[in-house]
Amino acid sequence: MKKIIISTLTLAVLLLVNSPASAEGDAVKGKKIANKCKACHTLKKGGKNKVGPNLWNIVDRGIAEIEGFKYSKAFKAKKGTMKWDETTLNTFIKKPRKWEKKTKMTFPGIRKDAKRADLIAYLKTLKD
Ligand code: HEC
Repeated sequence: MKKIIISTLTLAVLLLVNSPASAEGDAVKGKKIANKCKACHTLKKGGKNKVGPNLWNIVDRGIAEIEGFKYSKAFKAKKGTMKWDETTLNTFIKKPRKWEKKTKMTFPGIRKDAKRADLIAYLKTLKD
């Protein structure tokens, strides 16, 4: 009996450790979440700027780099100083106005960690 309990516990622990859900997001789910962004952003290569700049190749792109888009003063001031790596994107999308009080992006944010992970997994696919 003891043996069975121990092996069941071991199995449970192994399943937890190997669960892929936590670290890496699911790009397929992320694609649906990205519909929220499409109200203001195009996601295709060469897509036009709408209320917000085109988001093709956004992961690891420098901030405020899209020509012809009128960024906020706050974003322009950061140009050349940072890029949208996964960590920064994650913090920004969680609560844009908390990351930069004066951003023009009037989007409340996505509070659920798992949803942001899925979304970022999808954003990572938007490149050649
Ligand atoms: C209500 C419109 C709106 C929505 C919805 C929106 N954004 Fe934005 N976004 C903007 C605007 C406007 C800017 C420019 C911000 C600035 O200049 O301060 C921006 C900027 C950005 C930037 C910085 C781009 C750059 O070139 O530096 C990223 C990244 C971004 N948005 C991601 C997202 C994602 C991901 C979503 C969906 C979860 C989203 N946005 C939803 C309006 C929006």
